[in-house]
Amino acid sequence: MILDYKDINDLNRYKIMSGTVIPRPIAWIVTDDNGVLNAAPFSYFIPISSNPALLLVAIGQKDDGSPKDSLANILKTKKATICFVNKDNVEQVQKCAIQLKKDESEIEKFEIEVKEIMDGFPPMIASSQSAMFCEYYDTYEIKGDITPIILELKYQYIDDDRINERNHINVENIGRCGVAFKALVDL
Ligand SMILES: Cc1cc2nc3c(=O)[nH]c(=O)nc-3n(C[C@H](O)[C@H](O)[C@H](O)COP(=O)(O)O)c2cc1C
Repeated sequence: MILDYKDINDLNRYKIMSGTVIPRPIAWIVTDDNGVLNAAPFSYFIPISSNPALLLVAIGQKDDGSPKDSLANILKTKKATICFVNKDNVEQVQKCAIQLKKDESEIEKFEIEVKEIMDGFPPMIASSQSAMFCEYYDTYEIKGDITPIILELKYQYIDDDRINERNHINVENIGRCGVAFKALVDL
């Protein structure tokens, strides 16, 4: 079967693309707006360069057409902390996908524990095995309702026992496969 994208509506494009490009990592992004901590998951997310260390995340709009809070906060403060999801916090990340008002904090409402470990950056989700402390780098302008932004990775937290002396990493991330969350498993 050949699918012709000019004949496919937005919802079905999303269903087909996100069901095919799997597994996708989830960026659980913490941002701050004058002390209101925002946290939300994004799976249109990918590393694009190691030097400079850049990651791309594509963020859409709220139902009323305004930018999602994460995007508004990143454009305002130029900072974002990307946390990774594991089996211990997958229920919390799902709650964070609920659309809240701009002045409401997912961190407070869902009682998610965070820890401040990097001055000048939003805190990380305490249960994440790794977190990336990023600065805004650029926006890639495209037509449509999505804004792909590029973030530069400045610092990374990783649990001591998940990195070895050869910089081999062992994180138990959960990713997105269609509508499901899946753990990375060995072949
Ligand atoms: C696993 C998962 C992945 C998601 N990926 C994206 C994404 O890549 N881009 C996007 O705009 N929304 C995505 N969403 C929806 C946002 O998380 C949701 O709109 C959230 O309310 C945005 O919060 P904010 O307004 O606080 O930024 C995803 C939701 C889930 C559960």
